[in-house]
Amino acid sequence: MPASEVTIEQVYDVHVFCCINERSQDHPRSSCAARGSVDLQKHMKDRAKELKIKNIRINKSGCLERCELGPVLVIYPEATWYRYDTTDDIDDILNQHIIGRQRVERLILKNNQKVPAPTIKSRIKLRVGGIKKLTRNVKKFELFPEIEGLLPTFTAGSHINIITANGHRRSYSLANSPKQRQYYEIAVLRESDGRGGSAWMHDNLALGDSVEASLPTNNFPLDKSAEHHLLIAGGIGIVPLLSMGRVLHEKGVSATLHYCARGPDSTPYAKEAKEVFADQVHFHHDGGNPKNGIDLQQILATPTKNTCIYVCGPSGLITAVQNAASHWPGGIVRFEKFISDRQKPVHQNSDTAFDIVLSRQRKTLSVPPGKSILDVVNDAGINVSSSCEDGVCGSCQVRLLGGKAEHRDSFLKEKDYQNSIMICTSRAEKGETLILDI
Ligand code: FES
Ligand code: FES
Repeated sequence: MPASEVTIEQVYDVHVFCCINERSQDHPRSSCAARGSVDLQKHMKDRAKELKIKNIRINKSGCLERCELGPVLVIYPEATWYRYDTTDDIDDILNQHIIGRQRVERLILKNNQKVPAPTIKSRIKLRVGGIKKLTRNVKKFELFPEIEGLLPTFTAGSHINIITANGHRRSYSLANSPKQRQYYEIAVLRESDGRGGSAWMHDNLALGDSVEASLPTNNFPLDKSAEHHLLIAGGIGIVPLLSMGRVLHEKGVSATLHYCARGPDSTPYAKEAKEVFADQVHFHHDGGNPKNGIDLQQILATPTKNTCIYVCGPSGLITAVQNAASHWPGGIVRFEKFISDRQKPVHQNSDTAFDIVLSRQRKTLSVPPGKSILDVVNDAGINVSSSCEDGVCGSCQVRLLGGKAEHRDSFLKEKDYQNSIMICTSRAEKGETLILDI
């Protein structure tokens, strides 16, 4: 029979196969189930029902032999392949592809694709359009787009990474309201014993200069479900909280700010904090003696319903807030740290080299002494998100599929050590090869 005469009868309009194959934890190819496909397939089924999509079948399948790219699914009759990671991805596939009949380009897998497509390094060029000294050692910078127009969107609590002239990345929170996208406003505390980034910003960055930066990322978002927001800032930690305050003020949501600093001269953005929080701002000036500072025991004595606590500042303040709020519901304290308390560089020349297997990329790379896994992966042209590069922020967390890691971060909990690694700081234990879900 000539091909043109073949009629294909379909039982379903749409037939989806989601791989839920599971392999052992340390298998170098990993598996779709190990990357969360079981729950995501269930989400897809439930969501399709909620959306009342007719004549669709969403099946679990065995290995589809595209394991490095997983979790994967294929949609028939048109045989479109997708990779997905989150319930948002699944929702996009249902809404855009299945209901809207348009491919979700960002998730498409090409037929001949063997490794994940390299992610584009999302960097932008900014021009310094304003500099102002806020205190003796804090300067604010207004960074405008190089080409006239609005900057990419961001949400309160976001930060950008500035790439300094010597190639270092340093994270700075945005102070402005997300509505104000003509420029990004950051404030930099000059740290005499820091890693050199803040001194470079203070000493070298002049009006009209051009800098490279990442797109805004938010690891410190507002909890939209909270009815009251209790914000606690320590010094330069005011920056993201000011942006949050601006949003909460615009929306008329209840918020209180406790702002801790040594004295009025070392309180950047004091005027703006008063404008935004009005009678709901409390300054705690300790004159350099924490005993004279904020009384957290009293402020956090009684847990309040539907309240979210945010703290940004030195790690001592973050720990003190966590301790004082230990009788509040778990997870109620949100914090952002960019710098750890470590005194020495985390990667030493006396460290030993080790190998990493990038399971998705089908690549083995060697990590020499003095370099991080993150450096080596980035040098290989593979972009993994990062921020603090000091083991505190959580941006560079990667699934550990095999091998024993020597964890040098202060982000992961011990219970996660077997399955996760922060690749900016942690290394392999002696003689171990690490298999990473990259
Ligand atoms: S494990 Fe899913 S494609 Fe192989
Ligand atoms: S980049 Fe912040 S923990 Fe690794």
